[in-house]
Amino acid sequence: MNYYIIGIETSCDDTSLSLLKNDQVISCITISSEKKLAEFGGIIPEIASREHVKNIMISFNKMLDESKINISDVNLISYTSNPGLPTCLHIGKIFAKTLSWYLNVELMEIDHIHAHIFSPFINNSEKIEYPFISLIVSGGTTSLFKVSSPTKIEVLNSTSDDALGEAYDKIGRYLNLPYPGGPSIDEVFNENSITEKYRIPLATEPFSFSGIKSKIKKIIEQSEKVNQIELASNFQYWAITYLISKIEHYSRETKSKIISIGGGVSANKYFRNKISTSNNIYIFPEKKYSCDNAAMIAFLSFLQKNY
Ligand code: KG4
Repeated sequence: MNYYIIGIETSCDDTSLSLLKNDQVISCITISSEKKLAEFGGIIPEIASREHVKNIMISFNKMLDESKINISDVNLISYTSNPGLPTCLHIGKIFAKTLSWYLNVELMEIDHIHAHIFSPFINNSEKIEYPFISLIVSGGTTSLFKVSSPTKIEVLNSTSDDALGEAYDKIGRYLNLPYPGGPSIDEVFNENSITEKYRIPLATEPFSFSGIKSKIKKIIEQSEKVNQIELASNFQYWAITYLISKIEHYSRETKSKIISIGGGVSANKYFRNKISTSNNIYIFPEKKYSCDNAAMIAFLSFLQKNY
């Protein structure tokens, strides 16, 4: 028997609705308010939540049109319950609760970070082998996990300060690069500009990117003429080099060769390039599932229901 799931994601600046038939994605519609928020220089929770209010019905209707199913066939509604911006999460929760009440079907809360952990296995679930380790690098999190089942997930390491994506966005802003900083810095990156003076010491525990961020900020404040490419490239090079050495360390320690990577920073071209030379098996989400999306929410609810 087929099992239909609607997933809802509104934790930050993407309004996303998805429909899964068992573990297969039939439709995933995401409307980003990134451009609107860029006018304000970054995320303003109140504005982001108003965008969700505006976009949630549009995404829902598009998803229904694209999936061509009868809404009464839906068996489960899952939504991002945490973590995220409270005013944004609230919009998704109200929508999900209303839908589950209207359809008289089960409602399931899904942890946003746990959904990112499983996103590389969307439309690829036969590759899941427990335990595996997972790195989530987004605007809100930089954490490493040991995953023993869809519900048994332990934190191995996590940032004590800024998440890597957040540091990317801040550095991008200091350097007057377009928001969000991650893709902008990735675009101007030039390996010929790398110098030792920005190296992040490997002993830095737990994960921390505030040292390099503050160093770059100070240089910008004290310089008459800022070398945008040198600063952006060194930030990216040393942050990614540090991150990879940490992943490899935990892989050795947990004897796990499978590493799933999730979160917006996982789209980084330099990161993907460097990892391709490792002996470990790195599994990335498809590009469309590497940023926030509702398919990963529905997918994890399927795995949890069927474990
Ligand atoms: O997972 P995500 O879409 O949203 C949350 O943080 O919840 O991640 C967004 C983050 C932003 O900080 C953005 O700058 C970063 O991912 N990002 C990147 C790249 N694309 C997006 N960082 C580095 N390189 C990229 N290519």
